[in-house]
Amino acid sequence: MSMHKSMQHLSCLIFLLLFASTSLHLVVNGDDGNKDIYIVYMGDRPVSEEAIVDTHINVLSEVLGSSDEATDSIVHSYTYSFSGFAAKLSTEEAKKLSRMEGVISVFPNRYHKLHTTKTWDFLGLPRTAERNMKGESSIIVGLIDTGISPGSESFSDKGFGHPPAKWKGSCKKYANFTGCNNKIIGARYFKLDGEPDPADILSPVDVVGHGTHTSSTLAGNAVAGASLYGLAKGTARGAVPSARIAMYKVCWASRGCSDMDILAAFDAAIKDGVDIISISIGGQGYPNYSADSIAIGAFHAMKVGVLTVASAGNDGPSIASLENFAPWIFTVGASGIDRLFRSKVVLGNGRQVSGIGINSFAPKKRLYPLVSGVDAPKDSYNSVASRYCAENSLDPEIVRGKLVYCELQEWGVDSFVKEAGGIGTILAGEVASDDAQIFMAPATMVNYTVGQVVSDYINSTRTPSAVIYKSEEVHVSAPFVASFSSRGPSLASNNILKPDIVAPGIDILAAYTPLKSLTGLKGDTQYSKFSIMSGTSMACPHVAGVAAYIKSFYPSWSPAAIKSAIITTATPMNPKRNNDAEFAYGAGQVNPKRALHPGLVYDIDAQGYLQFLCHEGYKNSVFGNCSRVAPAKGVDALNYPTMQLSLKSSRNATIGVFRRRVTNVGPPNSIYTPTIKAPPGVQITVKPTSLNFTRINQMKSFSVTVKANPLGDQQDLLMSCSLEWRSSAGKYIVTSPIVIYNPNSLSINRQ
Ligand SMILES: *[C@@H]1O[C@H](CO)[C@@H](O)[C@H](O)[C@H]1NC(C)=O
Ligand SMILES: *[C@@H]1O[C@H](CO)[C@@H](O)[C@H](O)[C@H]1NC(C)=O
Ligand SMILES: *[C@@H]1O[C@H](CO)[C@@H](O)[C@H](O)[C@H]1NC(C)=O
Ligand SMILES: *[C@@H]1O[C@H](CO)[C@@H](O)[C@H](O)[C@H]1NC(C)=O
Ligand SMILES: *[C@@H]1O[C@H](CO)[C@@H](O)[C@H](O)[C@H]1NC(C)=O
Ligand SMILES: *[C@@H]1O[C@H](CO)[C@@H](O)[C@H](O)[C@H]1NC(C)=O
Ligand SMILES: *[C@@H]1O[C@H](CO)[C@@H](O)[C@H](O)[C@H]1NC(C)=O
Repeated sequence: MSMHKSMQHLSCLIFLLLFASTSLHLVVNGDDGNKDIYIVYMGDRPVSEEAIVDTHINVLSEVLGSSDEATDSIVHSYTYSFSGFAAKLSTEEAKKLSRMEGVISVFPNRYHKLHTTKTWDFLGLPRTAERNMKGESSIIVGLIDTGISPGSESFSDKGFGHPPAKWKGSCKKYANFTGCNNKIIGARYFKLDGEPDPADILSPVDVVGHGTHTSSTLAGNAVAGASLYGLAKGTARGAVPSARIAMYKVCWASRGCSDMDILAAFDAAIKDGVDIISISIGGQGYPNYSADSIAIGAFHAMKVGVLTVASAGNDGPSIASLENFAPWIFTVGASGIDRLFRSKVVLGNGRQVSGIGINSFAPKKRLYPLVSGVDAPKDSYNSVASRYCAENSLDPEIVRGKLVYCELQEWGVDSFVKEAGGIGTILAGEVASDDAQIFMAPATMVNYTVGQVVSDYINSTRTPSAVIYKSEEVHVSAPFVASFSSRGPSLASNNILKPDIVAPGIDILAAYTPLKSLTGLKGDTQYSKFSIMSGTSMACPHVAGVAAYIKSFYPSWSPAAIKSAIITTATPMNPKRNNDAEFAYGAGQVNPKRALHPGLVYDIDAQGYLQFLCHEGYKNSVFGNCSRVAPAKGVDALNYPTMQLSLKSSRNATIGVFRRRVTNVGPPNSIYTPTIKAPPGVQITVKPTSLNFTRINQMKSFSVTVKANPLGDQQDLLMSCSLEWRSSAGKYIVTSPIVIYNPNSLSINRQ
């Protein structure tokens, strides 16, 4: 899960570890008697629930020797949207099972990270926007997250009628959760390993704050006067304030979110009848859709008409750092809005500098004495630890009543400084300037250049002093892609552009849990009904909200049609400002109002995705059997609303033909003509050169032939081109980015 923590190197490390551990996948070092949980996937939606559990026990008995052992070993049976189970197995047993008839895939259960609201006005969806109230109140959004805070005003059911008749879910009373209302109509939790999490509560209640935040961004009521201690003041509201919320808690405060719980949540959400699923959780991060619980769950959701929107990941700006990239998932990166939070610091010599971060504390004095952590080590410590103000490293005799200057090594040192009696912290480190940390005591974060100024000043006088002011909003030009937002290309499919889109994910104000202080740090006494968070986790529910908004007008549109509408109407972004261009922002920034009137959509059904998978070499995988699937045409074998051509040769031109079919969802009689944008060295031709529609829902096919000269030894990762279909009066513009991707420039090791 992630609120993003700015520690690029740390998240890179986790990313690499994920890679390392996943490549151990089913590599057996002999049976050491230790059993881990594995997920065993056995195929499509079963006929009858009881019979299906029997087949699970039968197949497992053959490996374990008896049905008693099998029954004991099964942790959970998946019976609704697909057949499978989670069981405690040794690696040897898992290997045996994977060879059994009827078993399609066996993969280990792993844990994933979690990856206001002025944002809707910023995106052009004001409170007065066109709405279909009746349609909206029958929309049910499902979130797979950390739970929800039922007492929040954002989820009050004042003015709401009964849940829509299609709702089949349930809700009970749980610890610290008094039950649902007509706004939160479903709330469940999944903790199939049964091990209690001492930092969490076995209940759908949210003790982390993440799920409350994403839910309110997606579908929270409008709440006037929301702010974080006066910061980001305004009306907090979701994209679809009249929609209903179903929460599926799978992420736990200390361990994160496991595959088996994620799959169980998808299974339940599909069964319950949600319309859209929003999941702000890190995916697999390695290129195989078959062992990715979010991709598998989302595939089943897609089959019953439910779109899954997922966060791209917070491992940017590294290239190829995406975590959720299956083509049936809507992958959302994070952009910045026109506001950042900065704090002014004034030094005793009058010099004024500036740091980032959310500091809700106003100074009580004009200046405080200032000391460097280096100069304040506790007896038993040396200045190496105190330089970073590590826990317990500071001498209270020295720092009491003072501001302390520290170099950044870990987050949370504002709490250690406070514990030692310090007044506040000036942290120096290499951080992206677009992402604010919340502090539990007066603090701000400066870069090393400014840090040097502070440290020079400290050494220049016998009585250094300074003051940190409460953070202020500063205006910046927007949109831009967040530095932390994971970048493409997708390592899973060379010809699918990911991420799909970006939405605001920096300094987002939304509802928060009353069960945790703002930072969760020891000694933090700040509690707030609303909090500010950053991450692709925050971007995801924005796009899920726009998808729900569109669905409230067009309930019969397929997941791919809704996604296409949002992608082809996105606001283009500037490649000069965002280095990795489409690999950073996909089609651009979501534009809700335009997305409601796309003109044309690129539709894809379950069979279309299966054709794509068979084309990509997924024979008889968890997604289906390829034996009766007609081969698909075109480089990417998918009617995707964007196009990506991977260069094949560093000497000769690469030619690729994309086959596409668009459906007219605008006026019946419409004529569209194409406009191509391409840099020198790329030729793009479209056939036919006009699409003449005479009715709604009519489909027309066309082909796009891209011929790209090699980039040679150039390091360029990609070239940006585009295709626009414009209706004759220019009312509808349907834009598809076309990316020419140079895999030679990817230095990372690909399998
Ligand atoms: C949760 O509920 C229990 C009683 O059911 C109560 O003792 C406890 O304080 C509650 N926890 C929180 C964090 O509110
Ligand atoms: C993906 O992983 C599965 C095992 O879960 C393996 O059987 C399959 O061959 C892999 N597919 C691809 C395309 O690498
Ligand atoms: C450091 O921060 C200052 C003040 O915000 C800014 O002017 C400067 O460009 C930054 N330097 C670097 C190297 O980022
Ligand atoms: C300031 O003085 C400390 C010793 O008190 C030293 O470690 C540090 O390098 C000095 N800083 C600068 C910028 O000269
Ligand atoms: C796929 O279908 C073919 C033909 O219907 C069948 O022989 C084969 O067993 C199926 N494979 C799987 C994994 O279901
Ligand atoms: C380039 O194309 C020529 C013929 O068109 C072919 O002989 C040659 O092998 C190709 N080179 C590469 C590197 O693909
Ligand atoms: C579409 O209509 C335009 C304008 O009426 C016409 O010029 C063109 O030939 C038509 N194209 C097709 C494929 O029918």
